[in-house]
Amino acid sequence: MSSESPLPQPPKNVVVDTASLPASSSSSVWDRISKWVSENKALVYTIAGVAVVVTSAGVVYYLSDSSRTGQVPPPSDKKKSKNQRRKEKKKAEEEKKAKVEDEKSSKKAEESEELPEVDEATVGQLSEDTRKDYAAKLKAAGNKAYGSKDYNRAIELYGKAIICKPDPIFYSNRAACYNILSEWDKVVEDTSAALAMDSTYVKALNRRAIAYEHLSKFSEALLDFTASCILDGFSNETSRNALERLLKKVAEKKAKAILETKGSKLPSPTFVSNYLQSFRHKDLPEGLEETADLSEDSGKGQLRKGLLAIGKKTGDGYEEAAAAFGKALELGDLGDYEALALNWRATFTYLGGNAQAALADLNKSVELQPSLVQSYIKRASLHLELGNKEAAADDFDLAITHNKDDPDIYYHRAQLHFILGEFADAAKDYQKSIELDRSFIYSHIQLGVTQYKMGSVASAMATFRRSVKNFEDVPDVYNYYGELLLDQQNFAEAVEKFDKAVEMEKSSKPMGINVLPLINKALAVFQWKQDYQEAENLCQKALIIDPECDIAVGTIAQLSLQQGKVSQALKYFEKAAELARTEAEIVNAISYAEATRTQLEVQEKYPQLAARLQAMGAGLGGPAGI
Ligand SMILES: *[C@@H]1O[C@H](CO)[C@@H](O)[C@H](O)[C@H]1NC(C)=O
Ligand SMILES: *[C@@H]1O[C@H](CO)[C@@H](O)[C@H](O)[C@H]1NC(C)=O
Repeated sequence: MSSESPLPQPPKNVVVDTASLPASSSSSVWDRISKWVSENKALVYTIAGVAVVVTSAGVVYYLSDSSRTGQVPPPSDKKKSKNQRRKEKKKAEEEKKAKVEDEKSSKKAEESEELPEVDEATVGQLSEDTRKDYAAKLKAAGNKAYGSKDYNRAIELYGKAIICKPDPIFYSNRAACYNILSEWDKVVEDTSAALAMDSTYVKALNRRAIAYEHLSKFSEALLDFTASCILDGFSNETSRNALERLLKKVAEKKAKAILETKGSKLPSPTFVSNYLQSFRHKDLPEGLEETADLSEDSGKGQLRKGLLAIGKKTGDGYEEAAAAFGKALELGDLGDYEALALNWRATFTYLGGNAQAALADLNKSVELQPSLVQSYIKRASLHLELGNKEAAADDFDLAITHNKDDPDIYYHRAQLHFILGEFADAAKDYQKSIELDRSFIYSHIQLGVTQYKMGSVASAMATFRRSVKNFEDVPDVYNYYGELLLDQQNFAEAVEKFDKAVEMEKSSKPMGINVLPLINKALAVFQWKQDYQEAENLCQKALIIDPECDIAVGTIAQLSLQQGKVSQALKYFEKAAELARTEAEIVNAISYAEATRTQLEVQEKYPQLAARLQAMGAGLGGPAGI
C-alpha cells in the first residue's frame, strides 16, 4: 500500500538544543547529554577519585577532586594529601640543597680543575662514599656545562655521574639535554630510567610526554600527561592544556581510522526514520504504483522496490531501499524517474555519511528535473551540514522559484533558521508551512519548540496542548512535549508523556522503532531521582529495539561512569564511537573513551598513584558510592 511509502524527510528536531547539525535529532540529543552532564556538574568519579567533566566543546577534562561546583578549577595545594605535600616539599628542598651544593662543589671542581675519572670497569673498586662524592662532583660539572649550553659535555658528565651512583635526577637532567638536542628516543630512554626509580617524578613524566608527542606516540604521551596532572593535582596549566591537546589528537586520529573502515553503513533506524519523516509523505508516483507491471530487473522496478522498502520502517527495510536505489541507477532506463532515483540514492548516500557523493547526485537531479523541489531542499540540508549556510539559503530560494507553495520548503528553511538561532524567522516559516498544510505534525511540534526557545513558554505549551488534541495518535507529539516539560523540571508530567509515547510506539503497527522517548525517560528518571539503575535499564530496553542507537549507548556510558563502572563505561563509549555518524560525533565519543581508558591505564600502571588518589578522594569527602 502506497500509503506506507516514503518520501522523505526529517525532523531533526530537538529541542532544547541547538546542535550545529541540521538533519539529525540524534546530534542534538548527544548535545543534550553533554549539557546534562555539565549542568549537573556531573563530575564523574571513577575509582581513582578522578573526575571527568565535559566542557562546552565536548572535551573531557580530568579533575582530581570533588569540586562539585564546577568548571575545572585547578585544585589548590590544600587539596593535595598531606603526605603528598610533605613529599613534594622534601623534594623541592632536596633540589634546592643540591643546587647550592652544586654551586659549591662546582667551584671546588673548577679550582681543582680536576674531575674524577671513572668508568664502568673502575667504579667497582670505589667505596660507597667515594662514589657518592664523585657523583655529586660530576653532576655539578654537568649542570655547569648545561648552563653554558655545552650539552654534549653535560651529557657525558651526567653519564659518568650515573655510573657512580644512579639517580633519577641525573637521568632526568641528561634527558633535558637530549630534549634540547631533539634526540627524542634518548629522552624517552632516560626519563624511563628515572621513572623506574621514582614513578612519581613529575618533571620526568612531563619530559617523557613531550618526547612521546614528538615521536607521534600520542597515546603514550596522553598517559604520561594524565599521570603528571594527577600527581600535581592539575595545578600546572601547561600540562592540563597538553592533556587536552593530546586527547584531541588521539581522538581525531582514531576517528579517522574508524571513518576509513566504516564504509557507508546506514545509521541506526531511529536516526533514519527521524530523518525521513521530516518530509511529507508522498504516494508512489504514477507509473510506479504497486499495480504497475514492472520487472525487478528494470530500473523502474528497483526504484519502486526501494520506495516500498522505506515504508517498512525497519533497519532491514532501509538497507534494502539503499541497495535498490543504487541498483535502479545502475540498470538505468529510468525515463522521467531518473531525477527521483538520484534524489533517493543521494538521500541514502548522505545518511551513510558520504556527503560529496550525495551532493553530486542531487546536482544532477535538479539539473534533470528542476520541478522536483525536494532535491533542492535535500541539497540545502547537505550544504548546511557541510557548514555552507549561504549555499543552503540559495537552494531554498531556487526551490521557491519552482514551487512557491510546497510546504516542505518552508519547514526545512525554518530548520535552517532554527539551527542558526534565528527563531523569529523560524517561527514565521513554520507558520507558513502550517498554512499550506495543516496535517503535517512536525511543523506544529517545531513551532512549539521554537516558541519555547524564544521564551514564549505559554504559547509553546498551548501549541503542544493543541497538537496533542489534533494529533493524538502521533507518538512524537508526546515525546517533544515531554522534552519541554523536562526542561522545566516538571519531571512527573514529562515522564508521563514519555511513557505515553513509548506505549504508542510499542503498539503501532508495524511496531515503532523510534527509541528517543525511552532515552528521554532515562534522562528524566536520572535527573529526577538519581536512579541510575532504572535509567540504564531504560536505555538497555532502547537497545533491544534499536541495537544501533548511538544515543542509547552513549547514555549508558555516561551513567556507567557516574556509578564508577569505568570498564563498562569504556566499552560503551567505544561502541558509541563505532555507531556515531558524523566525524564530530565520532570524535566526541572517542574523546570520552580515551579519557576513560587513560584513567584505567594510569590506575593499572601506577597502583601506588591510584591508591593515593583514592585516599585523596576520600579525604576530600568525595562522592559516595565509590
Ligand atoms: C608545568 O609543566 C610543564 C610541562 O608540561 C613544565 O615544562 C613546567 O615546568 C611545569 N611548571 C611547573 C610550575 O611545574
Ligand atoms: C553541486 O552543486 C553545488 C552548487 O549548489 C556546487 O557548489 C558543488 O560543487 C557541486 N558538487 C558536485 C559534487 O558536483
